[in-house]
Amino acid sequence: MASLNNLFLLLTWVLLLFMLVDSSEQASLLRDDFYKDSCPDAKSVIKAAGCDASVLLDGNDTEKTAPINSNLIGYDVVDDAKQAVEAICPGVVSCSDILAYAARDSTVKLNGTGWTVQGRRRDGLFSCADAAENELPLPTFNVSQLIESFARRGLSKTQMVILSGSHTVGVGHCDKFIERLYNFSATHFTDPSINASYAQQLKKDCPQAIFNTTLEIFMDTITLGEFDANYYKVLSEHKGLFTSDQSLERRFDHRFGKAMRAMGAVGVRAEFQVRRNCRTVNPC
Ligand code: HEM
Ligand SMILES: *[C@@H]1O[C@H](CO)[C@@H](O)[C@H](O)[C@H]1NC(C)=O
Ligand SMILES: *[C@@H]1O[C@H](CO)[C@@H](O)[C@H](O)[C@H]1NC(C)=O
Ligand SMILES: *[C@@H]1O[C@H](CO)[C@@H](O)[C@H](O)[C@H]1NC(C)=O
Ligand SMILES: *[C@@H]1O[C@H](CO)[C@@H](O)[C@H](O)[C@H]1NC(C)=O
Ligand SMILES: *[C@@H]1O[C@H](CO)[C@@H](O)[C@H](O)[C@H]1NC(C)=O
Ligand SMILES: *[C@@H]1O[C@H](CO)[C@@H](O)[C@H](O)[C@H]1NC(C)=O
Repeated sequence: MASLNNLFLLLTWVLLLFMLVDSSEQASLLRDDFYKDSCPDAKSVIKAAGCDASVLLDGNDTEKTAPINSNLIGYDVVDDAKQAVEAICPGVVSCSDILAYAARDSTVKLNGTGWTVQGRRRDGLFSCADAAENELPLPTFNVSQLIESFARRGLSKTQMVILSGSHTVGVGHCDKFIERLYNFSATHFTDPSINASYAQQLKKDCPQAIFNTTLEIFMDTITLGEFDANYYKVLSEHKGLFTSDQSLERRFDHRFGKAMRAMGAVGVRAEFQVRRNCRTVNPC
């Protein structure tokens, strides 16, 4: 369960990024090892879990209530990390930086290569479900739509491919790809880009109309839950769960951390706050 929570946190990272419409180059606001002086023990405490943590805010019509985020779990893990950090350095470490550290730590825990996390993000003051629905890339996207979606945040095509390699860990649910299995198009009942034997198996896992909404299907079927390059091998055998991934088929290496740093700098805003409770903005 702990590792699933970690997976959630990685996913959160990308969700947060796409919440942010503002894509101007803000990397210069961030600093390596930012809490070295202001909270030297923070790094050892942030062991649970970009870029403004708006997905963590509770309330009506916030991002976490959007259907596209309906499978997100693990908010309590962030709460625990925040509480531990607040106990030693009140008001210093932002919720968005906690997520950034958590993304790196989860990757390393799953045997991926780590990177130096930049700190100094501030937490957002508002959160809207509509933004989540409109800004996140969809699993139905083709490669040109994916490229465009990342380019709007200043991220390259190569970075998009590398970052998508994080699907080497984690799971998808039937609702996210069911349309590829049944009644796909006028000419093909099943998406012809799915390996035929894999499509057979997915149909067994996700029966049309009566599928199990909580069933979890690993995206990397070779090494479940290990952070490696096997996901690209899965794609080369035409066993990608989503159109978005199947259209990639490239390599994956230590450049992941570098791309994560770039993604983690998107939409960083100096005027935001360090939230005391990740679920609510600070009272006036
Ligand atoms: C390129 C555009 C992307 C699309 C269209 C996309 C789409 C998805 C979808 C549909 C799921 C499954 C959700 C579910 O069924 O519950 C998923 C899971 C996941 N995504 Fe992405 N994603 C993208 C990029 C990324 C990036 C850049 C990262 C991180 C760097 C990421 C990390 C994850 C992780 C870790 C999971 C598994 C979550 C879990 O196991 O609970 N994704 N993604
Ligand atoms: C959410 O909406 C309900 C019903 O309209 C209302 O009673 C409640 O106070 C709202 N909560 C917040 C946090 O705005
Ligand atoms: C991707 O989809 C968009 C929107 O449906 C379409 O305009 C575009 O031609 C497609 N690109 C590719 C490479 O299939
Ligand atoms: C298949 O898709 C077409 C076009 O979207 C739709 O008109 C038709 O009702 C669908 N058939 C089934 C069995 O879902
Ligand atoms: C649906 O999937 C979940 C998770 O694998 C499992 O615990 C549950 O028993 C399944 N429900 C049914 C009705 O098969
Ligand atoms: C990480 O690698 C070690 C040593 O090879 C292995 O025992 C462990 O199962 C791996 N962890 C994961 C999550 O795959
Ligand atoms: C489809 O999957 C089978 C079984 O895993 C594999 O042997 C085959 O090479 C795959 N086909 C293609 C076209 O990749």
